[in-house]
Amino acid sequence: MATLRSAPLALLEVKGVTKDFGGLVALKGVSMEMKQGEIVGLIGPNGAGKSTLFDIITGIERPTAGSVVFDGTDITGFKPYDVTRMGISRTFQSVRPFLNYTVEENIRVGALFGKGDGKGVEEQVSQVLKATDLESKRDSRVMSLPTEQRKLVEVARALAGSPRLLLLDEPMAGLNPSEVGDFTKLIHEVNDGGISVLIVEHVMKAIMGICKRIVVLNAGLKLAEGSPDEIQKDSEVIKVYLGEEYARS
Ligand SMILES: Nc1ncnc2c1ncn2[C@@H]1O[C@H](COP(=O)(O)OP(=O)(O)OP(=O)(O)O)[C@@H](O)[C@H]1O
Ligand SMILES: [Mg+2]
Repeated sequence: MATLRSAPLALLEVKGVTKDFGGLVALKGVSMEMKQGEIVGLIGPNGAGKSTLFDIITGIERPTAGSVVFDGTDITGFKPYDVTRMGISRTFQSVRPFLNYTVEENIRVGALFGKGDGKGVEEQVSQVLKATDLESKRDSRVMSLPTEQRKLVEVARALAGSPRLLLLDEPMAGLNPSEVGDFTKLIHEVNDGGISVLIVEHVMKAIMGICKRIVVLNAGLKLAEGSPDEIQKDSEVIKVYLGEEYARS
């Protein structure tokens, strides 16, 4: 007999996603899932397809094959704006805040265009300024800030949209150890507030500490998936990625 209550839906399901950029196949049938409340790491060598997967989830690129399901809705082919409205916000690897705007104005844009949670825009902006410790910079133009703070502004803008899922593309690149510590704390706070996080990062110490589960991509294929412990012991992952990365850090 069929049970009345079905198993809880995955928050995000990437199903057999392939992306062919005119012969260069950046993703080859990649599948992965995330449950509500998880922090998942997405790692792998340069060119593995990590940012391309983010572009497909957020509607910037259309997959050549496969689909993306968010909270039970097939969002494949949705426009970026609609994906954001569904509750997925992201940051970009190459930071793209509005340089001529102030920190506060950048965050307001996120609050205006995001999913929203019924809170007023100004209340949301104030809350995010506080959570990201950017209050003292609220009136600074972003162009006057160093790269690390520009990255934080991007995260703040993404958070202001009240996402259910936050995608972070190398948010810790270039941060010093103390900044990495602050950022790690922020991610945990965000997650404690009920936001699921998918994070691409090459800073291995940080990602291994933050995530309970890690997905490894290599040359467009999913190479491995598991706990940080399992991933660090996986000989294939060490061969194609970790050996080199640990040596680098
Ligand atoms: N718009 C595009 N047109 C053509 N090729 C692309 C495009 N975007 C990405 N690629 C190619 O797809 C492959 C995967 O790139 P992607 O940026 O997803 O890798 P990545 O895992 O994010 O790497 P990195 O760690 O260097 O950021 C690369 O070979 C890249 O050159
Ligand atoms: Mg990338």
